[in-house]
Amino acid sequence: MNRNIVCIGAGYIGGPTMAVIAKMNPDRKVMVVDINAERIAAWNSDDYHLPIYEPGLVDVVKEVRGKNLFFSTDIKGAVQECDIVFVGVNTPTKMFGKGSGRASDLQYWEATARSIKEYAKGDKIVVEKSTLPVRTAAAMEAILNGERGTGNGERGSGIRFTVLSNPEFLAEGTAIKDLLEPDRVLIGGPQTETGEKAIQAVVDIYAAWVPSERILTTNVWSAELTKLAANAFLAQRVSSINAIAGLCEATGADVDEVARVIGADRRIGPKFLKAGPGFGGSCFKKDVLNLVYLCETFGLHTAAEYWMGVIRMNEHQQERIVSRLFSAMFNTLANKKIVLFGFAFKADTGDTRETPAGTVARLLAEEHVRITVTDPKALGNAKKDLSELKDVAYEIDEYKAAAGADAIVLMTDWKHYPALDWQRIYDSMRKPALVYDTRNCLDAAKLRQIGFKVLNVGK
Ligand code: NAD
Ligand code: UGA
Repeated sequence: MNRNIVCIGAGYIGGPTMAVIAKMNPDRKVMVVDINAERIAAWNSDDYHLPIYEPGLVDVVKEVRGKNLFFSTDIKGAVQECDIVFVGVNTPTKMFGKGSGRASDLQYWEATARSIKEYAKGDKIVVEKSTLPVRTAAAMEAILNGERGTGNGERGSGIRFTVLSNPEFLAEGTAIKDLLEPDRVLIGGPQTETGEKAIQAVVDIYAAWVPSERILTTNVWSAELTKLAANAFLAQRVSSINAIAGLCEATGADVDEVARVIGADRRIGPKFLKAGPGFGGSCFKKDVLNLVYLCETFGLHTAAEYWMGVIRMNEHQQERIVSRLFSAMFNTLANKKIVLFGFAFKADTGDTRETPAGTVARLLAEEHVRITVTDPKALGNAKKDLSELKDVAYEIDEYKAAAGADAIVLMTDWKHYPALDWQRIYDSMRKPALVYDTRNCLDAAKLRQIGFKVLNVGK
């Protein structure tokens, strides 16, 4: 077995994960391959204009690219050169046929499995990095080994493929830090002699920098399910605090105070209790929907409804923001200029997948609002996402964006927003000027002193 590694899929997961693996394993050759030539060209660009924005990523790529990290479209060559093959392709929610709107669309993943099978000339360890439904490894084994998968890593005829699950827990915006200092690394594999050897081979990659007590091994099915469950628990906490936020607005309680005190209970802990516009990002919704689908498939209908409630609460949060804005602006929004401060689904990323700002923009467009979007990193994606809407302007400069506006809706908690010159912004707006801070990150008292009408979430 050689020490080379390939990752198929050069996206948000494949790129940063392999860059860090290469940095921490200078003696291994790490290749990242993709069918998307444009994306690969961006990873290889001379000016390091990488396809994704992630703090610290450029520095890691500068350190290792061309030394032991290589980006390429040559999937065949890379698969043949490496005995460990990570699969980090996209697994979006399926939008057609059986399981539409709930199940994972596994077509990219299956195409990848078939390419690995076609190109492989010797035994391979195939590692699921993508988030997948439980028991996908069995299907992967069936395709690779050319017979019904056992989940035990037993071989069919010819080349042996051992399928492991190594889900990724990094969050966007903190990807490099999360990869360098993970709470845990999870490796699930078959509990057979071959399986144990394969697990050890992947443990060895991470052991280069992760303390051994943080490298957890389980069976394959537990690993696959843990990833879905972990995201569902995090999403559920966000929906729970947002459900409390509505009640705070109705009663005079303050959601940030409630969250602070709930979080002081060490059994609960303070993280993921920040009320806001609801969760976005490519994974929470898709993974909870996937869990719902799995529950339904196994006849666990009450469990499916429970998890579906997490999604419904999230959608309700964005509808509530727009209806509150509507009431605060004299029950008519038509022809008013409203500026969205931030479009990324969270700060420190240019990613706009499932961003609450997109939903809010669409709801505002239905009310014939003149929308302007400003964001330091996500304007390109915002333009693509909202291309179907008329009357949307895009402006990187917050002061220019706010000029002549009736309201600002702060959607993303970019760190520099509180430090803007809010007096200057107020002076340039139409009066009464309103700020709806859906992240509760601005100094509301100061804004009121300037003359703004201020709305918050959960206050
Ligand atoms: P992405 O869309 O950014 O990247 C996926 C890449 O796979 C694309 O560049 C695409 O061209 C490539 N691809 C698709 N089919 C291919 C094929 N047959 N051969 C070669 N390349 C192919 O997706 P992502 O955000 O990196 O997510 C990938 C997986 O990782 C998903 O399952 C996701 O749930 C999981 N995940 C993502 C994150 C995150 O922060 N984005 C975190 C944890 C887990
Ligand atoms: C999330 C998980 O945190 C990662 O562990 C996981 O690997 C990843 O999904 C994945 O599977 O893709 P990510 O979506 O990048 O990471 O970002 P988070 O920091 O989890 O934020 C998700 C959303 O929840 C954001 O819109 C954020 O603003 C929102 N959020 C988060 C809140 O509204 N309140 C909080 O207290 C925390």
